[in-house]
Amino acid sequence: MEFPFDLAPVLGDRFCVVDQHLRPAGRRGPTHRGDLEQQLRTVIDELGKASAKAQGLPAPVTSATRMEANRHVLYILRDAEGRGTPKGAVIGFLKVGYKKLFLLDRNGAHNEAEPLCVLDFYIHESLQRHGYGRELFQHMLQSERVEPWRLAVDRPSEKLLAFLHKHYGLADAIPQVNNFVIFEGFFSNRPAPP
Ligand code: ACO
Repeated sequence: MEFPFDLAPVLGDRFCVVDQHLRPAGRRGPTHRGDLEQQLRTVIDELGKASAKAQGLPAPVTSATRMEANRHVLYILRDAEGRGTPKGAVIGFLKVGYKKLFLLDRNGAHNEAEPLCVLDFYIHESLQRHGYGRELFQHMLQSERVEPWRLAVDRPSEKLLAFLHKHYGLADAIPQVNNFVIFEGFFSNRPAPP
């Protein structure tokens, strides 16, 4: 996904991590700070729109304004090599955040929990099924120090369910009455079998 400005000064490293302050670590470059902020807002808004379109959602769930209003963390993956794109390109993003949820266990008992939730996830259409989603997800798991079976996933698409099954062996969902999906191992003290 390309933009009419150079992405390196806006996003910094290959993995750009953005929180509600919209100030990525590792950002560098000579452009005026106000320009960088505006450009980052544009990147986040356009990624949010592309993700909503890919999922058939009526409106984006990710935007710069929403980022400022919530304590979510956005992991943006950039093509730092800029192959054929002098200004660089964004490969995709993953948004996570902690949420208080009432979740049912296998016995149907209600449990109040505050898990890290996968809230939005998108890899550009031309680059899906090339391993970038896994690279981004792995980076998030390491940064957040969380095991995949401890995550709650907000309305996962079929593609995301296939992704979680393939890469993390997550298949045995525990039925819920809300839109979140959790998997076997969520309530246990030990890792779920692969
Ligand atoms: N159909 C079925 N499974 C798919 C598809 C697809 N079109 N694309 C990816 N997958 C799954 C499969 O398990 C695939 O393995 P396979 O090719 O051997 O079948 C695996 O993901 C590939 O892994 P990666 O290459 O690491 O994943 P990718 O870079 O494609 O990223 C993602 C996965 C983010 C789901 C991407 O496909 C995407 O952006 N899809 C469209 C948007 C979307 O559905 N996002 C999730 C919304 S729900 C939420 O965010 C909470």
